[in-house]
Amino acid sequence: MFGPKTHCVVVVGAQWGDEGKGKVVDVLAERADLVVRYQGGANAGHTVHTAAGEFVLHQIPSGILQGAVCLVGNGVVLDPETFFTELDALAAQGIKTDHKIFVSDRAHLTLPFHKLLDRAREKRERIGTTGRGIGPTYEDKYGRRGLRVGDLGNLARARELVAARVASTNEILALLGSPDRADAGEHRAMLDRLAPRLLPLAVDAGRVVYEALERGEAILLEGAQGALLDVDHGTYPYVTSSNTTAGGAAVGVGIGPTAIDAVLGVVKAYTTRVGNGPLPTEAEPAVATRIRDLGGEFGATTGRPRRCGWFDAVVVRYAVRVNGLTGLAVTKLDVLDTFAEIPVGVGYRLDGEQVDSMPADVERIDRVEPIYETLPGWQKSLADVRRLADLPPAARAYLDRLQDLARAPIRYVSVGTHRDQIIEVS
Ligand code: IMP
Ligand code: MG
Repeated sequence: MFGPKTHCVVVVGAQWGDEGKGKVVDVLAERADLVVRYQGGANAGHTVHTAAGEFVLHQIPSGILQGAVCLVGNGVVLDPETFFTELDALAAQGIKTDHKIFVSDRAHLTLPFHKLLDRAREKRERIGTTGRGIGPTYEDKYGRRGLRVGDLGNLARARELVAARVASTNEILALLGSPDRADAGEHRAMLDRLAPRLLPLAVDAGRVVYEALERGEAILLEGAQGALLDVDHGTYPYVTSSNTTAGGAAVGVGIGPTAIDAVLGVVKAYTTRVGNGPLPTEAEPAVATRIRDLGGEFGATTGRPRRCGWFDAVVVRYAVRVNGLTGLAVTKLDVLDTFAEIPVGVGYRLDGEQVDSMPADVERIDRVEPIYETLPGWQKSLADVRRLADLPPAARAYLDRLQDLARAPIRYVSVGTHRDQIIEVS
């Protein structure tokens, strides 16, 4: 990906999340100087397999495993408990974290009261959130009452602000009929504990990235979730509360969009989603179970079984458009190894008419009927394939069809969980 004219690359999910961004970032981070997360929070779950074992990262950029300097951008909502638990676990597993991780002084903090609100609202609204306090933290941010990392520098003011948030949260919890209450003392103690540990890591992240760009360094902007979970472009309201798409990378890091040279969209060779909301190409239960078992499709954050179905070209074409994808990384192709036939969703029918782009309205998305094309399977293990030329013809034809339908070139194909199980398309 990186080259003389490609210094700043965004990696985004092009479906509903869990496309395997963690692995792709891990592979690309080998050549990156700086890896920056730009949105989302501890709702993300990036699973990476290395020789040292399996790592699941929620809050820290996956680039840490390759020794890149990592930044948490201003667009991220930072859960300090998860952040430090993860940092300690990485250190215990022998990963170097000193002077390797910094956080934006402008990133908003997710505190325990946000999680209580998330869970109380979820009981009524049934979005299927991860319960990590993501929506309420972004609400506070846009409501101009949030607490940012840099605010810990004025502890007295931070305590006051959080005490007010705890009090009004408890009023809302009472109104929602929730028995839970946020504890003012717990929050106060948490701030006192946090400030001395978090403040030394706080930087003007946008400036750090800008200066790295000036030096010609390789920078990877790591997205979380996927395009169809974007708060503007996703299957609203069944979305997360941030801009997961590439535009969010510029805003969430604090650089201009002109600094971005390439956008790599990660897609599974099929489709999954966790949480509620439409999934047009969802397979019938027996097939979904088969895909789930073969692909290990269980949420990395919540452990929930993921809903599974076939590749949906309408979704990916839409993601190509709203992200300006310059290339695709197709992951988990090996999961389809044993299927004799593989359906691919090529369009939708709605009220008797053909639709080739994602409707805005969730009620309409719910009613679309996918149009399938069936491709022959290859029925061979792809685990050891490292070159495009060595793929069985049917697997090659499957990828060619996905690329034609998606209208973006495939740059990588992943054929297993391990770092080296990847084909780079030159
Ligand atoms: P929230 O982000 O916890 O508010 O959840 C909103 C929706 O996004 C729910 O459907 C979640 O399951 C989904 N979601 C959030 N983070 C991820 C992720 O990392 N992978 C897949 N789905 C996610
Ligand atoms: Mg995930």
